[in-house]
Amino acid sequence: GRAPIHPEQAMSLPSTLTAPANTAQTGLFISFEGIDGAGKSSHIGALADVFRAQGRVVTLTREPGGTPLAEKLRQLLLNDAMDPLCEALLMFAARRDHLQQVIEPALARGEVVISDRFTDATFAYQGGGRGFDLTVLRTLEGWVQALPDQESSEGRDQVRQPDLTLWFDLAPEVAAARLANAREPDKFERESALFFQRVRSGYAQRCQADPGRFARIEADQPREQVWAAVQAAVSQHV
Ligand code: TYD
Repeated sequence: GRAPIHPEQAMSLPSTLTAPANTAQTGLFISFEGIDGAGKSSHIGALADVFRAQGRVVTLTREPGGTPLAEKLRQLLLNDAMDPLCEALLMFAARRDHLQQVIEPALARGEVVISDRFTDATFAYQGGGRGFDLTVLRTLEGWVQALPDQESSEGRDQVRQPDLTLWFDLAPEVAAARLANAREPDKFERESALFFQRVRSGYAQRCQADPGRFARIEADQPREQVWAAVQAAVSQHV
């Protein structure tokens, strides 16, 4: 959830007068999403640089992965064939470790966490792409993303979600054409155009269900325009 506005901020005094250098900052959690080939990678690093230039500490991370254990699970997930329930459970197992070891501690320190994918990817890929039961995914989401301090929060804040999710949306054919020149495809990148249509629909559903959290970025544009859209979305949300 959003931090309440402090009275000092509302009075628009120069922040140097009201905020000592070591004032605790509110953590900020941003995720990047989209089908493979959407082109989010370069923007993730650029956004991290923007926050660092503002003096924020940034944790750049990714899913599946982000911890030694979760990176091991990533190797299995991206290379080994497995049944959809097994795939969903390993995605959430990796997410649990990532949240506990990296994301929650960084947010508690008031840092900026930028993750290349988070839980929406599970709803899009395992839910949309594989057609796996969304009710089961929602149950797992509730368990895995339960906030460390449940009592002090209400409503949707009981489940950890990004403050802002930048969804890089583009047609699967365009994304596939971009991927064709890239490195050796992994298990997901080898999937059909139809699979990625379903993944895209999965993202669209998540976006519709939580429009305040999502910014849809039209990813089928020149890079500078995509970057402008990313910056606009971030400044609107933070
Ligand atoms: P990706 O983030 O695209 O990394 P890279 O650019 O190095 O290939 O790869 C992660 C893959 O895992 C991607 O194809 C999407 C898939 N994935 C899921 O299926 N479910 C999930 O919950 C997550 C986080 C990723």
